[in-house]
Amino acid sequence: MFKFSRRSLSVSPSLTLSLTAKANELKAQGVPVISFGVGEPDFNTPDYIVAGAKTALDKGMTKYTASAGMPTLRQAIADKLRKDNGLTYTYDQIVVSSGAKQSLFNAMQILVDEGDEVIIPSPYWLTYPQLVTICGGKCVYVECSSDNGFILQPNDLERAITDKTKVLLLNSPNNPTGAVYNKQQLSAIAQVLAKYPDIWVIADEIYEKLIYDDNQHYSIATFPTMYERTIVINGMSKAYAMTGWRIGYCAAPTPKVAKLMDSLQSHQSSNANSIAQYASQVALTTQTDFIVNMRGEFARRRDCMLEQLVKINGIKAIHAQGAFYIMVDVSGLFDKQYKGTVIDSANTLAQLLISTVNVVVIPCEGFGASHFVRLSYATNIDNIVVGVDRLADFIAQVN
Ligand SMILES: Cc1ncc(COP(=O)(O)O)c(C=O)c1O
Repeated sequence: MFKFSRRSLSVSPSLTLSLTAKANELKAQGVPVISFGVGEPDFNTPDYIVAGAKTALDKGMTKYTASAGMPTLRQAIADKLRKDNGLTYTYDQIVVSSGAKQSLFNAMQILVDEGDEVIIPSPYWLTYPQLVTICGGKCVYVECSSDNGFILQPNDLERAITDKTKVLLLNSPNNPTGAVYNKQQLSAIAQVLAKYPDIWVIADEIYEKLIYDDNQHYSIATFPTMYERTIVINGMSKAYAMTGWRIGYCAAPTPKVAKLMDSLQSHQSSNANSIAQYASQVALTTQTDFIVNMRGEFARRRDCMLEQLVKINGIKAIHAQGAFYIMVDVSGLFDKQYKGTVIDSANTLAQLLISTVNVVVIPCEGFGASHFVRLSYATNIDNIVVGVDRLADFIAQVN
């Protein structure tokens, strides 16, 4: 019998895969499926960035770059972090990777040893536990209640800290909750951590540009004692509609910390795609209103989706402030029936929704929120109106 590594077997397959497969099967049969499962902007990458990639090709920029990324791109990222986030880095504190996901892996790999504890506020992006496990760490989940807007409470954080705690993994704006930490909330977390100087923070800020109403993004690295133990993660995917280009980056507190991630990456995947790197540099160094317009459109869609969802009895939609997701508490439907089938979980509900009214929602068991489903509004207003109507019709028949 062939044997596989414990590491590979410890990784759980994505819960959403079977839903996506089912949705694709129905679409292939011509069924008009509406998907609220999407995890990427539905906008095209702006033309000026595409033109940048063409220029890179014309200039023959098709060779290896430095494994941490082109110095000019790393400088452009450092400039962005100073301008947008008030954080000062030199280019050699920046490591460019194949998506923020690889940046997260790099950061986790250099910090976490076997048995180290990583605090993950819950709900969380479903990749976090997997990457902690792959690195040999132990996940310590801290429940963040919807009553507190899914924000990590300082007392709860302090209670979770042990002498094995190595990292706090903080994600704002948050996937799946859409929660955005304000200045006071971050300051309160920083005050707790100030007592524990050995704890690192990995701050995933990938949805930074997708924030609505009067909310504003702050990086925890700007708070007292935080810069020197925070690795900031960000990337091009969500802000510039560049998910397929695979460019993410991290900013480390010292060039030495960056070098550790660079060395690891140099043996794993070398540099991120050179053409995409050049296009990213063009993206970051050109002034346009692309992000403002995309954010405006997302805000319009969020309002439209929320307005419809709050009218549906039996479920509770949470007012998201960032990213492009709305969490819906569906526990009021549990143990009730839809045409004879008992809805015993968010997973069953999602399976039923796709096979009956052809609407894809993501059950949040894998996000640490078993009472919720996640709806993405990275789709056009017409789809939102029709899809949520179908959801309402379905729920009207639950008893
Ligand atoms: C919270 C969060 N972090 C990181 C990522 C990864 O982004 P990238 O496409 O740059 O790898 C995602 C993608 O969905 C995400 O939701």
